[in-house]
Amino acid sequence: MVATAATDGGAVSFDLQPLEPILEEFKGRKDAVIPILQRAQDVYGYLPREIIYYISKRTRIPVSRLFGVATFYAQFRLTRRGRHLIRLCDGTACHVRGAKKSLEALEKAMSLKPGQTSPDYKYTLDIVYCLGSCGLAPVALVNDKVVGRLLPDSLVERLGKLE
Ligand code: FES
Repeated sequence: MVATAATDGGAVSFDLQPLEPILEEFKGRKDAVIPILQRAQDVYGYLPREIIYYISKRTRIPVSRLFGVATFYAQFRLTRRGRHLIRLCDGTACHVRGAKKSLEALEKAMSLKPGQTSPDYKYTLDIVYCLGSCGLAPVALVNDKVVGRLLPDSLVERLGKLE
């Protein structure tokens, strides 16, 4: 079973089969919105609109409730992310130590602004406010790897080497 969605980059299809064990596990549990959405996001990397509609149809949980939860919690993503997630910290320690320079370097070299995904879905850039590694400021998380004492040019170079 497949759900198809039209996007800017053409039609995208989602295999619905991986949802079945999740829907089965939480069958009849209208209180399980968060775990259902978490598991669905684990499958697809984000929560495509078509998947939310399908979950609603199968669980009879209103679409409005699913979207309400998905938009309320920061852990849920409604848009597709790049293969590489860059979380650049602009918390106080990182800001004071020049995080903005790394941000400007990314914007200039990769035309990537906070919250954006590159058109080729290679990178997504998010700004966060403290990664708990202030002693290494300025800091970024690149695919869950902490990169400390950032220098703008070396960050751009490092990202350029990612496949
Ligand atoms: S402010 Fe950046 S890691 Fe704490």
